[in-house]
Amino acid sequence: MKKLISICLLLLPTMAFANTGGVHLDHADVDLADKPSLQRGAKIFVNYCLSCHSASFARFSGVAKDLDIPEDVMSKNMLFVSDKIGSNMDIAMKAEDAEKWLGKNPPDLSVIARSRGADWIYTFLNSYYLDPSRSTGVNNRVFDKTAMPHVLWELQGWQKLAYTEEHHGEENKKVITGLKLVSPGKMNEESYRQVTHDLTNFLTYLGEPALMVRKKVGFWVILFLLILLIPAYKLKKEYWKDVK
Ligand code: HEC
Repeated sequence: MKKLISICLLLLPTMAFANTGGVHLDHADVDLADKPSLQRGAKIFVNYCLSCHSASFARFSGVAKDLDIPEDVMSKNMLFVSDKIGSNMDIAMKAEDAEKWLGKNPPDLSVIARSRGADWIYTFLNSYYLDPSRSTGVNNRVFDKTAMPHVLWELQGWQKLAYTEEHHGEENKKVITGLKLVSPGKMNEESYRQVTHDLTNFLTYLGEPALMVRKKVGFWVILFLLILLIPAYKLKKEYWKDVK
């Protein structure tokens, strides 16, 4: 019984990831060593997301340091008038106002990549489609009836659901096959994919800034262990040569 409970506990995070409404998730291909991508992601995050979502676990100065963004560039381009470089990435909007205006309170995104997973975020940002029945005018394939508007519409443009017809005896059934762009934005499809990749990369870093350090340290530790293997092996041979 105890074993069963621990297996269930281990599976919990994957169960959270699995909530996609049956839609296949695209691979985000996260690369925390890609500093230019992380820097671009930070800029988009500040310009397009930080108005509604906070990332209170992070400080502007910490992000600048980790991503090699000079502090003066950060202060000039990414901080709002009231922010200081040492302050946390908070927002001015109050939770009750957000709920009044948007219907839901936009959650803090500090650790969203850990709870939802990078692939989910990447697919979510690429899966908005026009839906006149929604107050925002849009719906999302992996987050049905989301209260979040399509905030990147200017860049991506607008998509619609694409269907195909399947014949089942007498009946014709409409089956969703995916999404198609019906009104292009400022960017072509590839550039928009790059934007959502950079954002996902940045949100993954935000969820675990220590991951970057850990990966770097991990590389040197493994190299050290490999080098240590040579004298250890020679020593073992030396010890055992008289025993045989
Ligand atoms: C106009 C305000 C607004 C802006 C700007 C905005 N969001 Fe949202 N976002 C919301 C709201 C509201 C929700 C809650 C949706 C719900 O629960 O239905 C949300 C939810 C989310 C979620 C899902 C959270 C969860 O697990 O439930 C993610 C991920 C997200 N936003 C990412 C972003 C990113 C990335 C940006 C910037 C490109 C952004 N948001 C910009 C309002 C906003």
